[in-house]
Amino acid sequence: MLYTPEQQKQYTELSKKFIQHPAGKSDINDLRAVLIFHEHKYYIEDNPLISDFEYDQLYKQLVRVEEQYPELITPDSPTQRVSVDTTGEFRSVPHTIPMLSLDNSYNEEDLVDFDHSVKKLCAIPYGEHVEYCVEPKFDGGSIAVIYENDLLTRAATRGNGIMGEEMTANAKAIPTIPLKAGFSKYHIRKVELRGEALIRKDRFSEINAEREREGLSIFANPRNAATGGLRMKDPNETRKRGLEAFIYQLAYAEDKDGNEVHKNFKTHHEGIELLGSLGFRIPHQEMKICRGIREVVDYCHQWQEKREDYPYEIDGMVIKVNSLDLQEKCGFTAHHPRWAVAFKFKAKQATSKLLKVEYQVGKGQHHTGGQNRACTSGRRYGFFYFAA
Ligand code: IVH
Repeated sequence: MLYTPEQQKQYTELSKKFIQHPAGKSDINDLRAVLIFHEHKYYIEDNPLISDFEYDQLYKQLVRVEEQYPELITPDSPTQRVSVDTTGEFRSVPHTIPMLSLDNSYNEEDLVDFDHSVKKLCAIPYGEHVEYCVEPKFDGGSIAVIYENDLLTRAATRGNGIMGEEMTANAKAIPTIPLKAGFSKYHIRKVELRGEALIRKDRFSEINAEREREGLSIFANPRNAATGGLRMKDPNETRKRGLEAFIYQLAYAEDKDGNEVHKNFKTHHEGIELLGSLGFRIPHQEMKICRGIREVVDYCHQWQEKREDYPYEIDGMVIKVNSLDLQEKCGFTAHHPRWAVAFKFKAKQATSKLLKVEYQVGKGQHHTGGQNRACTSGRRYGFFYFAA
């Protein structure tokens, strides 16, 4: 857990104090820490401790103190998520290591073939079980984020896999991406993480309803709304779209001497859980360690059944060899890692049928007002409900 019970108590008490007696110059670090704490409770843990109104009061205090003492602004301040700059053209930047695709599988037989190929590559007898980590295949826009000396320094889209499009200002407008994370505690100076920017299905319907009212074209699916949101020229527009990001891969890590330290972790699961403990949104509940391919097949089928109930669009599951040693033994092709495979769900119902449902919803069953409250801070997007 990122915050100990003592810290939670301390930040709760400080929140009360600042709400009663507005903060001054000497409180700025505490005030900032309190806001970062509440952002974490809200966005990552889905367990807010204060109301939007209280959060906004605190946020406005920070804006006021920072305006008076701009020299005290830090790069991880919550105010730094809101940018006045426009992104302009997206600069092309190289990924630390290529962002490869995944090979696909469609049924049990394909998964058994994948398991055989892993065993062959790792010289594991067919009778033994390989440990796999299985997680949803999120259907949004892939992102690569770099932290150096604990600060978010660069974010990019996948691009062609070798070169991505730099969109750091837009990534900062996504509240589930921490501006600062304690990698230095693990002797990591630079790290590149991979993940997916997404829009919740309910937020997507809400956006389309808004667009329809404004006479704008509607998005065909949440993925288009998410990838478009990553490429907005104005980061404030990205913020309004209500993007969220799940991190699913620790792609690269180096220490202060430039040594690769990624392999200090034993497993993929361990690396991802560490990121969770540093404040990133990870698929903690959704990830499962499966012993052997039978468990993998069962877990994929379970998710195929419940995918409609999941709040985010997913188009399959990703199966990864859990041990990083074994991953290394498997290696890569030019196109994909040999240690991972995507299990693609069967296509959903016909698109025409789905579009009709969207259309009816858009025409009037919801939007009671009150949702999409544009707080100064840009908080609270994507959590509002439908009246239908
Ligand atoms: S791992 C080296 N895990 O699927 C490969 N990818 O074709 C690392 N994706 O666009 C990818 N959910 O962005 C991985 N849990 C997950 C994923 C995931 C979605 C996307 C990824 C890429 C595509 C791969």
